[in-house]
Amino acid sequence: MVEDICIIEEQRHVKRLGVKIRSLRSCIFSIPLLVLLLFYYIDSYVLTETWASTVGFLSETFITKNESQPWRLSDPYYVNYPQKYHFVKNEPEKCRKENTFVVLMVPVASGNTAARDAIRATWGTEKWVENKVVSMFFLLGLSSSEENTTVQKQLLEESARYHDILQCDFLDTYHNLTIKTMVMLEWLARYCQNASYAMKIDSDIFLNVNNLVKMLLSAPTENYMTGLVTRGGSVLRDPRSKWYLPKTVYAPALYPPYALGLGYVLSLDLPKKLVEAAKHVKAVYIEDVYLGMCMKHLGISMTFPSRNDLFHVFPVKYNPCRYSELIATTTRSLRDQVEFWKDLHKPQQPC
Ligand SMILES: *[C@@H]1O[C@H](CO)[C@@H](O)[C@H](O)[C@H]1NC(C)=O
Ligand SMILES: *[C@@H]1O[C@H](CO)[C@@H](O)[C@H](O)[C@H]1NC(C)=O
Ligand SMILES: *[C@@H]1O[C@H](CO)[C@@H](O)[C@H](O)[C@H]1NC(C)=O
Ligand SMILES: *[C@@H]1O[C@H](CO)[C@@H](O)[C@H](O)[C@H]1NC(C)=O
Repeated sequence: MVEDICIIEEQRHVKRLGVKIRSLRSCIFSIPLLVLLLFYYIDSYVLTETWASTVGFLSETFITKNESQPWRLSDPYYVNYPQKYHFVKNEPEKCRKENTFVVLMVPVASGNTAARDAIRATWGTEKWVENKVVSMFFLLGLSSSEENTTVQKQLLEESARYHDILQCDFLDTYHNLTIKTMVMLEWLARYCQNASYAMKIDSDIFLNVNNLVKMLLSAPTENYMTGLVTRGGSVLRDPRSKWYLPKTVYAPALYPPYALGLGYVLSLDLPKKLVEAAKHVKAVYIEDVYLGMCMKHLGISMTFPSRNDLFHVFPVKYNPCRYSELIATTTRSLRDQVEFWKDLHKPQQPC
């Protein structure tokens, strides 16, 4: 499931583009809309946060919870959060003991040992960069599969060996990814409050830890969230779409600005603030979008990376010089992920 995220993100991108192109066609005579869309395409940097804030302001009434219209468990888009979950496997001391600068949090399905091993053999080994400590954890829910006793047994062995497993007691499914993200933030606020930054990164991503740390050395220490930030993303209203959201769940036509889930970075004052915001913002199952909604609620703008070639949702063709410049990119397979990393870290690598 987690390996699907690359394809998922790609499809999401493509679909959103499709929606935009269709709406462009149908609104061709609507000058104001056309101007706005054009603005969006000219260069995302040209468009200031003001427009996005205006949309957010107008839509605030729709995303703020209405306590007299509570969720029902039977709603298909119900996300059981806020709710108390517990970590059945924890590493409560690790951040403090390691004096962590940046924490890498990798959501992964319990059964996906292959992805964990690939990461442990590649970017997960980079624990000391630019004189700063990088800590890494895998974030798991409970598996619903029949063979879960075997999976669980293997997990305990992995955990005893590597001490990098955090497992929380919610059912690990696609529609529960928002729960996963929120318990991750709760965990960071509680156990890593003295670290400076965290990055949530999917398990099929190539990460250049060096460039991440270098970027963070001069990054703001508060209210900072960055990644592949997207603005003006259309809400998908086709019930067959993987990211369908009915108007009853979220009424505005556009999402607030948010950083795509493949890998986003935040300063460690934010987890606590986002967890607090989540008490007031109705949860949607699309986790990255939901964080965008919570940021909007907090009135904190997303930060665009200093260059727009640092984060990639579409796999970047391997080239050592290109990979030595980026921070994160989706890869097509675990094998690519491992091979690219090994090649880039060859001693005589010219780039
Ligand atoms: C909340 O929902 C109730 C019942 O549908 C409605 O009467 C009320 O106007 C809503 N309140 C807000 C602030 O939207
Ligand atoms: C954070 O640092 C402060 C001051 O050094 C210390 O008192 C506190 O115990 C630390 N907290 C954690 C969770 O490591
Ligand atoms: C194993 O599956 C059962 C039933 O599907 C579930 O109740 C239990 O929580 C699962 N355990 C783990 C560790 O995933
Ligand atoms: C999400 O997790 C909760 C808590 O474990 C569970 O009750 C619910 O069925 C899960 N939802 C889905 C869609 O799997």
